[in-house]
Amino acid sequence: MNNKHPASGFSTRAIHHGYDPKDHHGALVPPIYLSATFAFPTAEYGAACFAGEASGHFYTRISNPTLALLESRMASLENGEAAVAFSSGMGAIAATFWTLLRPGDEIIVSQTLYGCTFALLHHGIGEFGIQVRHVDLTDLAALQAALSPATRMIYCETPANPNLRLIDIAAVAELAHRQPNITLVVDNTYCTPYLQRPLELGADVVVHSATKYLSGHGDITAGIAVSSHALAQRIRLQGLKDLTGAVMSPQDASLLMRGLKTLALRMDRHCSSAQAVAEALQTHPAVQWVTYPGLRSFPQYELAKRQMKLPGGMIAFELKGGIEMGRRFMNALHLFTRAVSLGDAESLAQHPASMTHSTYTPEERAQHGISEGLVRLSVGLEDVADLLADVHQALAKCSRPSVRPAATAAHVLR
Ligand SMILES: Cc1ncc(COP(=O)(O)O)c(C=O)c1O
Repeated sequence: MNNKHPASGFSTRAIHHGYDPKDHHGALVPPIYLSATFAFPTAEYGAACFAGEASGHFYTRISNPTLALLESRMASLENGEAAVAFSSGMGAIAATFWTLLRPGDEIIVSQTLYGCTFALLHHGIGEFGIQVRHVDLTDLAALQAALSPATRMIYCETPANPNLRLIDIAAVAELAHRQPNITLVVDNTYCTPYLQRPLELGADVVVHSATKYLSGHGDITAGIAVSSHALAQRIRLQGLKDLTGAVMSPQDASLLMRGLKTLALRMDRHCSSAQAVAEALQTHPAVQWVTYPGLRSFPQYELAKRQMKLPGGMIAFELKGGIEMGRRFMNALHLFTRAVSLGDAESLAQHPASMTHSTYTPEERAQHGISEGLVRLSVGLEDVADLLADVHQALAKCSRPSVRPAATAAHVLR
């Protein structure tokens, strides 16, 4: 694919990579190819496409020009060789698992994961003869001890949804790659490649819910996997084409490319506003604990500074009075919307134990670092003064002395 700006900066590539208006009647915005199938000039050429001997688009579940442009842009931004687009983040994750794992294999996963990823592991691939082992990946000795000849994949989110626990990607990659045939897969949804690029730190595959910051406007569901050419080809031809069929629509690819144009600007704003909200929460007497990678009190603050360009737009916290008080806080919010998802222009608040992470049992949540009272905030793009005013007025309705033993951020991420 033509690329006029091979050595350009992040935003220049997010806006221009892989596209020249000259090749498209001068159209500034890449056209949307709304075609499920593509004409073969000859029967022989069609057969060669199916045999993998000729390149070219022939059916949109496998490739499409609009999807291909998005994929090349995402590969460029993540500094990978190739990318595959999906209709949702779960599509990307499921296709990666089903492609790279077989019965008898082991997958080592970090303790805290998005609820549906946890469900896919335990009620999906775990029931098809693949051994799922949760390991505290912040403890490299524990990881070393857990590795076995059957280990084929290590999978983590960093920061993790919802408690923001970080994993040292470079350290885990170094350990993983001492053994052949282990693929390190990192869910980079919370950061986007603007804040963190796992492939540069040694990961083999990056997956995203592009429903979130990448698209940024809450109007599509989408997923991406980025890797080497060889792995992407396997994920496309097995995971996407045959095993899930979770193909992204060309219209959604166009909306996602529109979102990418402002990704850097949006992420800067999400991060600065989240920092202000986290600091306000931290000093408020109604708050029991808060985790945000930009706070000096964050137990992995040094790792956050080393691994992430900025601390992100997500905050987890718990009020004195636990879930009862958390519900009171959420119901008192005026500007924050009570909704799941994250990374939108609108600020969102949700309660993982009863919403995104209700796929865990209460015992599993306790084991995996998701406290029942944890409230998750996705700090949006509204004026920060308005966001702070909303948080303060809601907190004012929650100021009641605690009867619970004090927990700290270090306790939550232990
Ligand atoms: C970290 C993370 N990964 C994956 C997903 C799944 O993405 P999607 O909802 O686009 O399928 C989510 C959704 O919230 C998420 O938060």
